[in-house]
Amino acid sequence: MADKPTKGLADVVAASTALSDIDGKAGRLFYRGYDIHDLAGRTSFEEIAHLLHRGTLPTREQLDAYCARLVEGRTLGALVEANIPEIAEKQAPMEALRTLVSLAAAEDPDKNSNDIEANVRKAARLTAQQPILVARYHAARSGTSVPDPDPEYGIAANFLYQITGRRPEQREIEIFDTCLVLHADHTMNASTFAARVCAATLSDMHSAIVAAIGTLKGPLHGGANEQVMRTLQSIEPGKVAQAVRDKLARGEKIMGFGHRVYKTEDPRATHLRKMSQELAEARGDDTYFRMSREMEEVVFEEKGLYPNVDFYAATVYHYLGIPTDLFTPVFSVSRMSGWTAHVIEQHADNRLIRPDSEYIGERDQKWKPIDER
Ligand code: ACO
Repeated sequence: MADKPTKGLADVVAASTALSDIDGKAGRLFYRGYDIHDLAGRTSFEEIAHLLHRGTLPTREQLDAYCARLVEGRTLGALVEANIPEIAEKQAPMEALRTLVSLAAAEDPDKNSNDIEANVRKAARLTAQQPILVARYHAARSGTSVPDPDPEYGIAANFLYQITGRRPEQREIEIFDTCLVLHADHTMNASTFAARVCAATLSDMHSAIVAAIGTLKGPLHGGANEQVMRTLQSIEPGKVAQAVRDKLARGEKIMGFGHRVYKTEDPRATHLRKMSQELAEARGDDTYFRMSREMEEVVFEEKGLYPNVDFYAATVYHYLGIPTDLFTPVFSVSRMSGWTAHVIEQHADNRLIRPDSEYIGERDQKWKPIDER
């Protein structure tokens, strides 16, 4: 046994990746060397998925071909279709997605191959299917019908269209697309690590994604965005500072704040704050935005913590008309591009991920027959 473990593997480098990089001190994030500030608002989610899956920002022709593949990938298999109603009745959104992606594996034409081209095809299909699964799940549980995907729409526009049932405004599409860009990949976060551990056994991409969805679900990771909205909704607008101080005094965490890697503002939060403000003002009711600003000030004053990606994502999604319990599924819609890219990368240069542990239990115990214990 070598060194003492670092609790939560903090600062442990667990894999090499060419997909994304974070400078936690400077608050910078890069996808394949491109600064997130250069990408956000200028590059579509489809371009980012191409960058992650295929290695480059696409040319116009490459993007058209890639988008055509994504549009084809929106079709769900018969097994998935048949099971949506019962799953929607019995499972919460992230549980349902975990189950539905697992079912989709059975119908994937590349299910028996982990080679790079098969993985790239599966990555595109999973990225195309995830928003459709969320929309179909939501319609099934609400007892409503969902409009057919519009082939003229990209992922962001189509998702808003299918979830809200109305054609989104251009600016709403741009804002939601930027949200998807901002959430696409983030180095060795918990769900990506889970995906890579699974893939490193040479298990298949769908199994790795099921592991990732289960990991994203938790409130310390992707589940935080939903909790942010529930916190805002539980506080009286004039009592934000007191509510935050009370929570902290009770030793509760304030969801949407703090980060393992960023020691300053999360660069994604910078964009999300602006978009939240813009949407709040456009709607003529900025109550939740103002409450968020106040919460941000108090948490910084009390704990020196900055908002993470989940904090302002919550109000952005709320203002876009997305139901609160679909916020974490929305995260998965975007992160699917990153997870699948990590599985491609892991399989391309694989070694089993099998860390050691520090044994802290009893030693030299004497065995006794059952009747003498
Ligand atoms: N509210 C109050 N206190 C906090 C918060 C918070 N949100 N975050 C950290 N702290 C405090 C802890 O209580 C701890 O204090 P202590 O040293 O006095 O015990 C200290 O800061 C360090 O916190 P840890 O939880 O040990 O930090 P860690 O790096 O393990 O966790 C995490 C990072 C999980 C993000 C944490 O900040 C947290 O729980 N935040 C709230 C949940 C959240 O927003 N998660 C989303 C993260 S982004 C993402 O996954 C997409």
